[in-house]
Amino acid sequence: MSILKIARMGHPVLRKVANRVENPNDPEIIRLIADMIETLKDAGGVGLAAPQVFQSLAVMIFFVPPSRTNDDDAQSEVPLTVLINPEIEPLEDDEKVGGWEGCLSIPGFQGYVPRWRKIRYRGIDENGDRVEKIASGFHARVVQHEYDHLIGVMYPERMEDMTLMGFTEELRRDPPDVSSDNTEVDPQGSGDAQQEK
Ligand code: NI
Repeated sequence: MSILKIARMGHPVLRKVANRVENPNDPEIIRLIADMIETLKDAGGVGLAAPQVFQSLAVMIFFVPPSRTNDDDAQSEVPLTVLINPEIEPLEDDEKVGGWEGCLSIPGFQGYVPRWRKIRYRGIDENGDRVEKIASGFHARVVQHEYDHLIGVMYPERMEDMTLMGFTEELRRDPPDVSSDNTEVDPQGSGDAQQEK
């Protein structure tokens, strides 16, 4: 296994629609997934999509760490999940919720991004088995963030107010007021980058 270089915003691989994986059991795909897991651990993130490691393929990985769960919103820990050729659909139309996100491809920054509150996602896992799940909260946010990488979209393109993007360090020092009914209490930010170090 190897730790892979992470593409940064501006590289064309991040703007392309990723190709579907024809054979999830291909040894090259299995190796890519193993390398992505190692790369994600090394980077200290919570999700990673294959285009972020310069592979234009519909493969993403993510997890929801125990620190990001909360009791009142049916949020629970989600183990490391591999999704190949994923599809997502919103379950409550027009129900978007704002939250802070970071991205391993935009190091040092965070932005306030509206996302669907609740989604259904489908895909194939690392064993070639079908996966179908309903997600909300942090889980839904990280899935939407990683899925966007597979269609060439980065989180700033999902933002509605670009004044709510900045260096994580500055935002922590003097957080902008975004409190409303549609805000997730999410001071750590999510997206790929769990916490900037
Ligand atoms: Ni990202």
